Amino acid sequence: MRVEPTKRMDFRLGGGRTTVVFQREFRIPELEPPAAGLLVVFDRNTRGLFGAGVRPAVVVPRGEAAKKWKHALALNREAVERGLTRTGAMVGVGGGAVCDLTAFAASLYMRGCRLALAPTTLLAMVDAAIGGKTGINYLGYKNVIGTFYPAEVVWIGISALESLPEEEYRSGLAEVIKTALLGDPALYETLTRRREAVLGRDADLLLEIVRSCVAVKGRIVEEDFRESGRRAHLNLGHTFAHALESVTTLGKRGFTAGLRGRRPGAGVGRWSHGEAVAWGIARAMDLGVRLGVTDAAYAEEVDRLLDLYGFRRSVRRSSAEGLVDAMGKDKKRQGDRLRFVLQRRLGETVVEEVDDAAVRALLEEAGVS
Ligand code: GLY
Repeated sequence: MRVEPTKRMDFRLGGGRTTVVFQREFRIPELEPPAAGLLVVFDRNTRGLFGAGVRPAVVVPRGEAAKKWKHALALNREAVERGLTRTGAMVGVGGGAVCDLTAFAASLYMRGCRLALAPTTLLAMVDAAIGGKTGINYLGYKNVIGTFYPAEVVWIGISALESLPEEEYRSGLAEVIKTALLGDPALYETLTRRREAVLGRDADLLLEIVRSCVAVKGRIVEEDFRESGRRAHLNLGHTFAHALESVTTLGKRGFTAGLRGRRPGAGVGRWSHGEAVAWGIARAMDLGVRLGVTDAAYAEEVDRLLDLYGFRRSVRRSSAEGLVDAMGKDKKRQGDRLRFVLQRRLGETVVEEVDDAAVRALLEEAGVS
């Protein structure tokens, strides 16, 4: 089936409305009615790729290094200096970090100015730009300061994915797999049967995949905007993943300090967010089987799907103890027990509290000693 070049989806989020526009060609978002003024935010990479002729533009560092107070303040300072009013808009053009930062800054400026996002990575298209979570990292904690502030418009231009480095593309694919597991059997089938086209970044197929993911996530966040229930299901695999990211990529000093001075991809034993999520999904399946929650045949199927896309299985240079400690920092912790999103089978997701000891034993069994 040929996908029509432009499609829209509307979601009601926390009293506001987000329109998601899907197109083949990447474009800087347009707002309706037009904004009184714009502040367009790029990172160094997206400025070069998509920013020709765009004024006024602000450039922030690439990746998580952008998610700092000083950059949120710098965007607000630019907005003041340029005389942006509340009817002006901040526009974030980039991956998850640019989207999170720009949305955070926009939520603060004059108690909230207009906001549009143009995600340029698969991960930002299917997750970060959708659903109104904003945030910066602080004192070693990821997204510990943030707001709920949905974009008025999210423009998804699939052609932006053509230039995406392989590692980042695969990182987004893990979130696509997660979304399929949460509630889209047709997408699960597509991922299982059309690996070559998915990895070959077939534009029509990608448009369809991104639309499916946005539809699933949009439905979940419409129902539970502030994560008091079902939205937590979007964290499938993430408790394990955040722990792995923090011990392998970020070092003992924590998130922000651990990234200082590193180029993305330059860290020893670095795991991208998506690779960590894929590993985390596999561990969540193991944990579910161990606790008698997850259907064992389903867990094996998921394992095969993760294998099909070549996600790493083995975790070197990490200890089970270190990972469990890192989980203690997770926002999802409740007292002495950790909370995990588990699945009975495709589309049936539950949240369970689990003892640290059971998690440590599971990790040791998975080869983390
Ligand atoms: N990335 C998870 C959420 O938006 O809730």
